[in-house]
Amino acid sequence: MITCDSSVQHPFQPGAHGLACDGVSIQSIVASVGTPAYIYSARAIRDAYRAIDDAFGSYPHAIHYALKANSTLAIVRVLKALGSHADANSGGEIEVALRAGFGPREIVFTGVGKTGGELEYAIESDVGAINAESAGELDRIAARAQAAGRVARVALRVNPDIDAQSHPNISTGLKSNKFGVALQDARGIYRDRRNEKSLQFVGVHLHIGSQITTAEPLRRAAAALTTLALELRDDGVPLEHVDLGGGLGIAYEGRPMITPAEYAAAVLPELRRANIPVVLEPGRAVVGHSGALMARIVDVKRYPDGRQFAVLDTGMTELMRPALYGSFHRIVPVSPRQTAETPWDVVGPICESSDVFARERPLPDLCVDDLVAILDTGAYGAVMASNYNRRLLAPEVLVDDGQWSVIRRRQTLDDVLALET
Ligand SMILES: Cc1ncc(COP(=O)(O)O)c(C=O)c1O
Repeated sequence: MITCDSSVQHPFQPGAHGLACDGVSIQSIVASVGTPAYIYSARAIRDAYRAIDDAFGSYPHAIHYALKANSTLAIVRVLKALGSHADANSGGEIEVALRAGFGPREIVFTGVGKTGGELEYAIESDVGAINAESAGELDRIAARAQAAGRVARVALRVNPDIDAQSHPNISTGLKSNKFGVALQDARGIYRDRRNEKSLQFVGVHLHIGSQITTAEPLRRAAAALTTLALELRDDGVPLEHVDLGGGLGIAYEGRPMITPAEYAAAVLPELRRANIPVVLEPGRAVVGHSGALMARIVDVKRYPDGRQFAVLDTGMTELMRPALYGSFHRIVPVSPRQTAETPWDVVGPICESSDVFARERPLPDLCVDDLVAILDTGAYGAVMASNYNRRLLAPEVLVDDGQWSVIRRRQTLDDVLALET
């Protein structure tokens, strides 16, 4: 039994014919689409979304799914159908959200270095909130909105200097990080601009990091934001919402993890002090468990000291997280051999020593042509892929209600070279 947290049943489970995704044989999908390939469960996405939605119950809330985690159109549409709104981190993600059918007001736009073009696009599109990163950016938004004869809906991203106790590369709420404005500066920035006719202050925003596994940093973030919202109310800047960002972690190792219910229980008492609607921007917690990357073993090597390598036909080009921040992913053979487990280094084919998925991982015997699944890669997997080594983007498959379909075909070399002279 493959487990995740208690709110979601893991979609990938061993079956009579090897690993299956919600009962659909991986072997049969891969026989058709080849490897490497991402396979996702629509059911798991829906369950994870509903767990967060249910956890906030009757408290006024809007879930803005963070497209950066996985913005493949079919995935985004699954969430749209559930009533999700969208969090976009670039002009491209705003456009994807609009093309997927979200109304402009259902989109919040965050980004640490928005270009002038992106700001104009967001203002013209009339998105629900542009989460501004600095006083300077607010002024640039105001100037552009004025030039366009528009009023831009804005929120200021604050940096509360809270340690998310996550990996340093995905912690964003410390004063040593590049994100947002210092919390103590925020009130003055709003006050100085509250009469700016081309700006409408609709919220305050923060996002302290990703893969957060304990409730306390999230509670402290909610407390800081609520206090600021109350102060702004006193200053005559009534807000429509506070935006807590994303960050809820998932159980990559299959061990118990903060649940959406625990998250809500930690932040709701703080939010109730202002009784103000909350915007949430979860990404990983919605799609992380839903996906797995399927790969075939192309070589097996054994060194004299006993170290053994399984070389896959997928690498950091398809799944960058392990190379980028040493992240852990469970790896399971699709049809495991009934042998004792021994330690394996599971690696990719790229000529980079960081192209490693696992070191000394206990696994049964592995042989060339065996299929393996790298689990919990629904978030920050396919979206981070690259064409390094002229490798081609892997196809993506969605399993829904016993059926499967290709939601992104495999890229061809012609697709890639079409951009070149
Ligand atoms: C501003 C913002 N919101 C939401 C998210 C989604 O975070 P997560 O996938 O950890 O929920 C991110 C990701 O880092 C982000 O930068």
